Amino acid sequence: MPDEQQRIISPRPREEDLSGEKSLRPQRLAEYIGQEKVVENLKIAIAAAKARGEPLDHLLFYGPPGLGKTTIAGVLANEMGVSIKITAGPAIERAGDLAAILTNLKKDDILFIDEVHRLNRAVEEVLYPAMEDFALDIIVGKGPSARNLRLRLPKFTVIGATTRLALLTSPLRDRFGSVYRLEFYSLEAMTEIVNRSAQLLKTEMTTEAAVEIARRARGTPRIANRLLKRVRDYAQVVAGNRITLDVAREALERLEVDELGLDENDRRVLRALIEQFDGGPVGLSTLAAATAEEVDAIEDVYEPYLLQIGFLQRTSRGRIATRRAYEHLGIPYSERSQQGGESEYQQSSLL
Ligand SMILES: Nc1ncnc2c1ncn2[C@@H]1O[C@H](COP(=O)(O)OP(=O)(O)OP(=O)(O)O)[C@@H](O)[C@H]1O
Ligand SMILES: [Mg+2]
Repeated sequence: MPDEQQRIISPRPREEDLSGEKSLRPQRLAEYIGQEKVVENLKIAIAAAKARGEPLDHLLFYGPPGLGKTTIAGVLANEMGVSIKITAGPAIERAGDLAAILTNLKKDDILFIDEVHRLNRAVEEVLYPAMEDFALDIIVGKGPSARNLRLRLPKFTVIGATTRLALLTSPLRDRFGSVYRLEFYSLEAMTEIVNRSAQLLKTEMTTEAAVEIARRARGTPRIANRLLKRVRDYAQVVAGNRITLDVAREALERLEVDELGLDENDRRVLRALIEQFDGGPVGLSTLAAATAEEVDAIEDVYEPYLLQIGFLQRTSRGRIATRRAYEHLGIPYSERSQQGGESEYQQSSLL
């Protein structure tokens, strides 16, 4: 089975990202590139909360990995001038764990819950009154003399993040005052991100090289930063530390990332869809089985970007490979089995 985490273009975090990620992470809204609609709405929310002297409403961010959900939670804490506690769904195992976190929060604090769709039921039950009424219900005593005690909590903000909005229970989702979807970044925004990171890494780079790296980074800042670092290493060793277009291309070719940011694994999934299933439609689990990938990986990692660049369509009967996908792989396309289906995603502004 291919190891998803080994892929240079995996949007999920890899070991190598962790060291640099902090230093490359935007700290303020003004440094947060792209996602204009979300940023505009957040500016208004921040101004309003400050004017009222209250914490932000609970916010939920969703979208594929590496687009900046964790980053924006940190940015919001900085903009509001409050502290942030960071945790994740799977880390909060028992109701008592959450109670402990909640009772340690101070007024206006932000509680960031990553992978919020992975909270278990018992924990969610504690979170509901905490989010809604800033209250913690605890049971004191045992047996017949046990009674309910309601503790008041200071007003605080929960920021949830998830790659899977659909897996969130609806009562939990309803408790978030606003829900924001992060989109893949445009080529323009990606180029800006590459340039910003290069500056922070004190790396000299031409404009064309920045565009080249941006183009292959799948609309995902985390991948852009990773590719940039690899290209920088290459430039350091073979090109006197300067990233020109040629150096960038050579380095990226060595990493086997093609001009659309696809690697061998993406091509393998597409080829399976085309060659084994006649281009589809095919169900997700069948495709996963045929490619020895996990359903999760296909849904979280491969599919969003392939949909975005218009290589894949999601229909009620399954996934379909589009003409573009055939052309990219150099496989002749015929109209036969392709009775379309509306794509749920808009086609790319990246191309
Ligand atoms: N808008 C942005 N401008 C510049 N850099 C960004 C932006 N968003 C994200 N980044 C960069 O991308 C990296 C990954 O972002 P982040 O960790 O916030 O993604 P995420 O959506 O939380 O991913 P995951 O779903 O894996 O938790 C950050 O370290 C940061 O350097
Ligand atoms: Mg994150």
